[in-house]
Amino acid sequence: MVQPTILVTGGAGYIGSHAVLALQNAGYNVVILDNLVYGHRDIAETALKAELIEGDTNDRALLDKLFSSRKIDAVMHFAAYAYVGESVEAPDKYYRNNVVGTLTLIEAMQAAGINKFVFSSTCATYGVPETVPIPEDHPQNPINPYGMSKLMVEKILGDFDRAYNFRSTIFRYFNAAGADPSGLLGEDHDPETHLIPLTLYAALGKRKSITIFGTDYPTPDGTCIRDYIHVSDLASAHVLGLEYLFKGGETTVFNLGNGNGFSVKETIETAREVTGKEIVAEERDRRPGDPPMLVGSGEKARSILGWNPQYTELRDIIAHAWQWHLKRNG
Ligand SMILES: NC(=O)c1ccc[n+]([C@@H]2O[C@H](COP(=O)([O-])OP(=O)(O)OC[C@H]3O[C@@H](n4cnc5c(N)ncnc54)[C@H](O)[C@@H]3O)[C@@H](O)[C@H]2O)c1
Repeated sequence: MVQPTILVTGGAGYIGSHAVLALQNAGYNVVILDNLVYGHRDIAETALKAELIEGDTNDRALLDKLFSSRKIDAVMHFAAYAYVGESVEAPDKYYRNNVVGTLTLIEAMQAAGINKFVFSSTCATYGVPETVPIPEDHPQNPINPYGMSKLMVEKILGDFDRAYNFRSTIFRYFNAAGADPSGLLGEDHDPETHLIPLTLYAALGKRKSITIFGTDYPTPDGTCIRDYIHVSDLASAHVLGLEYLFKGGETTVFNLGNGNGFSVKETIETAREVTGKEIVAEERDRRPGDPPMLVGSGEKARSILGWNPQYTELRDIIAHAWQWHLKRNG
């Protein structure tokens, strides 16, 4: 039997590359589309040995050529810009890449008769939570253009479903972290803004310290609480979300979180234990727009998709990330 071929946009990036590995391990054929603005050629071609098409989701002519020259059965769409602060400074850049780029992609898919789509959305679409753990039907009031760009795409996908039978699995991730446990893949963002890699850069001596923004939040130790979800668990959810569409599933939204939060201080302390390094932490004032607690319920993905995250311990998440950073940057 010929295995389906999946186009993975952003497959040379952090989460997309782990999804490519999970798809390959599940027997799918994979083609990566990435403009390499943030992605890594060596990850796509050397580590994953995948076919990489260097191109942009905004390039309709390239998409039409790609879809007419080979049989693509479904698309997983990771390609986007994801720096919250930058999105406030340059909203046009985010709406163009994340919204217009996605619309261009799904229009090209529709023209080519492809109607299965797995989309990377985010807990940033919820804005400041009213309840935690956050369920999927929580109100969505994003507080920055990045979150708004993802919410707009969610709405477009709902309209495409109603108008064109275009089916999407929409995943709202909480904080992606960790690395492939075999050490093949990991996180290599430049610039890096996420707490765990920055803390590990401090452990490696690539930066002097890690900054804690705000120690007076209404949480047990006064620092923000986040739900860290292992990137390989995100990847396995994507394969299940794809299979759900192949079985005729309706357009559905799923949170991908562990339902379990860790504070900034707990995270840094766990990194000290895992690495055995003294990591200097500097305490500063709160940053605007950081909710005290972001924790997501992943119950719906567990019950409908049969998702069973394997690495829910913060220690494992950090240990896998550390193994990768030692190899990549050590
Ligand atoms: N990292 C997280 O914690 C997190 C949380 C929630 C949602 N997400 C979403 O997950 C997705 C992947 O995030 P990531 O952390 O892997 O980011 P990443 O930057 O590592 O990966 C994104 C990839 O997309 C590529 N890309 C960007 N725009 C493109 C375009 N127009 N055409 C082709 N390629 C393009 C980049 O070169 C990069 O390789 C993004 O959509 C992001 O918004 C990430």
